[in-house]
Amino acid sequence: MKTQRFCIRSDRQRSEIEQAAAILKRGGLVAMPTETVYGLAANALDGNAVRAIFAAKGRPQDNPLIVHISSLEEMEPLVKTADARVSLLAAAFWPGPLTIILPKSERIPFETSGGLSTIALRVPAHPVARALIAAAGFPLAAPSANSSGKPSPTTAAHVLADLDGKIDAVIDGGTCAVGIESTVLSLAEPVPRLLRPGGTSHVQLEEVLGEVALDSAVFAKPKDNRQVSSPGMKYRHYAPQARVTLVRGNAAEFAAYVRRQRKKQNAVFAMCFTEDIPFLKEPFLCYGGKADAATQAQQLFAVLRQADELAAQSVLVHCPAQEGIGLAVYNRLLRAAAFRIVEL
Ligand code: TXA
Ligand code: MG
Repeated sequence: MKTQRFCIRSDRQRSEIEQAAAILKRGGLVAMPTETVYGLAANALDGNAVRAIFAAKGRPQDNPLIVHISSLEEMEPLVKTADARVSLLAAAFWPGPLTIILPKSERIPFETSGGLSTIALRVPAHPVARALIAAAGFPLAAPSANSSGKPSPTTAAHVLADLDGKIDAVIDGGTCAVGIESTVLSLAEPVPRLLRPGGTSHVQLEEVLGEVALDSAVFAKPKDNRQVSSPGMKYRHYAPQARVTLVRGNAAEFAAYVRRQRKKQNAVFAMCFTEDIPFLKEPFLCYGGKADAATQAQQLFAVLRQADELAAQSVLVHCPAQEGIGLAVYNRLLRAAAFRIVEL
């Protein structure tokens, strides 16, 4: 299959948006920019179209997809029940990086929900994504547009590196501003539960909802992959080819650890903070300032992919703080590292 390229930087590029929407109307797959990461979109109401997403990504069938709508009004026919909490959250965070899980209506096929009776919904903030949903005229199921297990894509080039020839089209809408996926919050239970940290922080959610429980899978290695409440939070994920290890310690300790590992092995890369640079010798890849979690999130996946391009064998990551969006950065790195952490 030849993957068509569109460059769409504004929702005013009507003719290109209509062409991409026409592909979706035929049941095809279009990778689209969102403010978090690129998504691989198909008609969420069409089981066959959705099956093609799983095939292109090599994604396990039991891992449900997020359904993207262009406004809160489009939610009603897709869910069985919703309550006042949804309106509060939508007013505070939509459009934006928050995904809400609710009991699904019969309009959502089980292909989309991975066999579950719930559905994950979000209104993306990227104007091109919203224009595409509106032009299609149906909600779009879209997981991150990477091969299953790989780091999520934050540019159209990342999408093509994984999926060129396997999908109908990709829309180049520039580099994703947030860089890390949405926060996944379940409202399908009495106390709201954060299943995956992301672009909307736990503190921000508690300001609107009161108590929000943190699912154990946010920090801990799942004992049994089958029992994870958000199937996407399984063991190893977001990982480049290189072996990733998280390292906790100050700048001098981190640099000394990197030096020791380089005596034992070739192609050891440091993935570091700006503040670490004076302590390190090349090769290193910087992913932001120590206290700048927003930049770390924005750079994270691009830097993990760069490590592969540079043929890193081992990537030693200076462990980020876990506050705000930093919790999401830490959560992804834990999985990229298959939970390997070195404490110095
Ligand atoms: O920012 C994002 O969320 C991006 C963009 C494209 O919107 N999408 C994304 O999709 O990250 P994906 O498929 O890579 O991750 C979706 C996560 C997975 O961990 C999945 O298991 C979880 O959401 N999920 C989806 N529906 C669920 C449901 N009904 N119950 C529990 N978890 C669900
Ligand atoms: Mg993903």
